Amino acid sequence: MCGIVGYAGGRKAAEIIYEGLLRLEYRGYDSAGIAVLKDGKISAVKRQGRVCALGGYIKDMDGKLGIGHTRWATHGSPSDINAHPHSAGKFTIVHNGIIENYSQLKAEYFDGEKFTSETDSEVVVRLLDKFYDGDITRALFKVASLLNGSYAVAAVCTDFDGVAVIKNKSPVIIGYGNDGNFIASDAPALAGFCGEISFLKDGDCALVTRGGVSIFDSAMQGVLRERVKNSATNASLDLNGCPHYMLKEIREVPASVVNTCNAYSSAEEKLKSVVSGCDRVIIVGCGTAYNSGLIAKRYIEKFARIPAEAEIAGEFRYNRPVVTPTTAVIAVSQSGETADTLEAAKLAYSLGAKVVAVTNAPYSQLTRCAHAVVPVVAGHEICVAATKSYTGQIAALYLIAHTLAGRDIGEATQKLFKISRLCESAIETEGIDSLAHMCARSVGTYFLGRDLDYAVAVEGSLKLREISYIAGGGYPAGELKHGTLALVDENVVAVVIITDKRLADKSMNAVEQVLARGGKVAVISNIAETEKELQGRAQLIKIPDCDENLSPLVSAVAVQLLAYKTAVLLNRDPDKPRNLAKSVTVE
Ligand code: F6R
Repeated sequence: MCGIVGYAGGRKAAEIIYEGLLRLEYRGYDSAGIAVLKDGKISAVKRQGRVCALGGYIKDMDGKLGIGHTRWATHGSPSDINAHPHSAGKFTIVHNGIIENYSQLKAEYFDGEKFTSETDSEVVVRLLDKFYDGDITRALFKVASLLNGSYAVAAVCTDFDGVAVIKNKSPVIIGYGNDGNFIASDAPALAGFCGEISFLKDGDCALVTRGGVSIFDSAMQGVLRERVKNSATNASLDLNGCPHYMLKEIREVPASVVNTCNAYSSAEEKLKSVVSGCDRVIIVGCGTAYNSGLIAKRYIEKFARIPAEAEIAGEFRYNRPVVTPTTAVIAVSQSGETADTLEAAKLAYSLGAKVVAVTNAPYSQLTRCAHAVVPVVAGHEICVAATKSYTGQIAALYLIAHTLAGRDIGEATQKLFKISRLCESAIETEGIDSLAHMCARSVGTYFLGRDLDYAVAVEGSLKLREISYIAGGGYPAGELKHGTLALVDENVVAVVIITDKRLADKSMNAVEQVLARGGKVAVISNIAETEKELQGRAQLIKIPDCDENLSPLVSAVAVQLLAYKTAVLLNRDPDKPRNLAKSVTVE
């Protein structure tokens, strides 16, 4: 949430920072700004709107070091004034995070003074200016000691030929380039610029100059942070001929399943020792990651016969959870940065539970709050709406359920390989275009299913709401008659997922109940009898026949495509839905 970039080197800083911000737009896109330093003078531009709003100013911004920001507003509406950078005296800063005690700090240190913006961030730059005594590092540590909340603050100062950064909770990576050094919120910003990166730890402060990088830990001692290969490359940013990242990433679903399977063996032994003896499992996550937990609950109970529940991370952390040393808490997060999931994992850890992280971000904070880490290998996901990471999570959780059951994962892996090929054919599923037209015209689209199909219904509904802004929900098919049926009329679409032969008749009851009340119905199914029963009364989306436990991977592709096509029909930007951003690092 919010992306920051900084550069000190031999090239035109504004151009490099602009490029980095464009690549970080998934972290926020309501306003953007860049500041550069040249000959002891800072020049800045900031504008409401997307990063491209800065494009016309770049050529006039000379200077070989600077900072930039793309914003997801937390305090103060999106506007030119509230956009970052913010300046005071010799300092100009960009900030990602939330300063929770900003109003107390304002009252204590700047009582009666007029602030320029409505942001929480402005107090940081004012404090830096106030406490600066010629030593930037000391000023940053002093200010950090006053702040409550999360922050990655990058600063330029007219006295210093570099970029200074300090962080707590919000991510910062350092990039080592051939012609200069970098800071950024996330690796894609540095693809093609830096082959090697390192990750700052909470409390770290770094000084980045053209000649090198110095890092200090929270005790202000110089430290080295491991340098690793930057996994983000120019290829990971390429759209591969697709009009949007969302479509590109749906096409990468098969690879996410295969690569996640291939990586599982690296985690299996550690996982086994961590979860050995666990008699209860709680899966925590937010949004789509939580929805993959709904599937995991079913896998774990089915294969391992261990009681399992999925809980929204933001609820778990505040409801005094009952966990014991024999409880396994599986924290699922694509980014490994989501504030609620991190806090849930930390809480579970502190209460003595065995914490397992399932994440697509191998160096993320979540990996540091867990006893074992199971990788999802979906590759960088740029679209705000999760697609390939969801299917990667399902693959990882399916294997974890087998490990919890004490089973060999060989057969399970083969099944996943096979299903990955079916996901490939599901990308060509027919009928989605006409269903997308139906959904685009509806005032509400509701997704229904039972058991695993219900879990996918919840995700399908989230995806459609998120990128097409059509109201709806995902419900157990049996619950329809307990309230939601009241919404049904000729302007409403019900999408019923039916892949479980055992429950197909029961789910068909929901289809009949909607049809009987004049609602429009579409059925996503791979069961021949369902087609016969429908007799053309509802639209049928046929997905490939497959192992019924793994059908969520195939039906997920269908609902993701449906959401994508509906959003495109409605002229929404599927990659950057309104009001949202990826990596929700704030509460
Ligand atoms: C929906 C979506 C979000 C994320 C949620 C958790 O398409 O992408 O609901 O799933 O914000 O994010 P991570 O997985 O990074 O913790």
